[in-house]
Amino acid sequence: MRQFVSYILSASFLATLAVTQESCSQEWWDLASDFEEFFFRDETCSGVARAAIRLAFHDCFPGSCDGSMINADECWDREENAQMARICSILGEKADEYGVGTADIIQFAAGMSVLDFLFRSIADRIEPAIGLASCSGGPVTSFYSGRQDSFDATPLGMMPNATTDAITMIDLFSSRNFSKTELVALTGAHTIARQLDGTGMDNTAGEWDNSFYSDTSTNSAPRSVAADTFLAQAGETGEEWRTVGETQQSFMDAFVPAMEKLSLMGSDKDDLFDCSDVVQWYAGNSGGRRRGRKGAPEG
Ligand code: HEM
Repeated sequence: MRQFVSYILSASFLATLAVTQESCSQEWWDLASDFEEFFFRDETCSGVARAAIRLAFHDCFPGSCDGSMINADECWDREENAQMARICSILGEKADEYGVGTADIIQFAAGMSVLDFLFRSIADRIEPAIGLASCSGGPVTSFYSGRQDSFDATPLGMMPNATTDAITMIDLFSSRNFSKTELVALTGAHTIARQLDGTGMDNTAGEWDNSFYSDTSTNSAPRSVAADTFLAQAGETGEEWRTVGETQQSFMDAFVPAMEKLSLMGSDKDDLFDCSDVVQWYAGNSGGRRRGRKGAPEG
């Protein structure tokens, strides 16, 4: 039934898109407002936001950002995705509610979640009393809509895992046209990641910062994923690890385009619609007053 409803909704969504090319369709503005409320209500540096960022990777990396994580039940059927089951349920329902594509909403939620960390740093400065001090620093990413949804599960074994060695990881990423620098930059998303027991993957897990790189290479993170340590210490990727992680700026400069490239896997950018202004508007207008706002800005 969900498949049928999704087909109808994505068909109507694409039809809407075709006649509103000059501006991003209203659904995304409404969703941004909804997400903002949702993420803000959840616990700080929320598990939902972190899972949404990870979900974007898992949906795209097997070959195409196609929504199959949700549409083909990969979130629930595959143990490697267990941490994302809750965000998948939320986004599946929101896609139906707002009549948008599943593949698109996954990428949108990731962008809003990365931004969520930026929101919190601003909220901290405006309302320090509300106790969000440990979240800060996320970059502003792009968002494109119009991806094709798929209801077919991707083959098993396409994802790297916690113990994948550096050479295998380089090969996996290279087979999908990602350079070593892009691989290292994307892995930097672990700056805000937590293991299942809540332990951070760097000493500042609430902050989107470059200390993940030095903490991992010096073995001083509370608990690293072995695959990250391999990348940090391997001769093949050590230089990229140092260059990308050198400063906050070098991390952001490498991460943002790599994340965009990841989010466009399986699509031609020219066939999609650039909705980045929604994310950018929220980035520029974040802070205490942004809550409760609905719809696109006027004028
Ligand atoms: C490059 C290969 C990668 C490997 C081997 C990998 C592996 C892992 C593993 C094993 C965990 C969970 C740790 C646990 O459950 O205890 C994790 C968490 C996470 N990963 Fe990755 N990952 C990779 C790349 C990425 C990328 C590209 C992104 C996003 C752009 C990403 C985002 C995340 C996030 C946000 C979490 C934390 C989720 C949470 O805190 O709930 N990862 N990753």
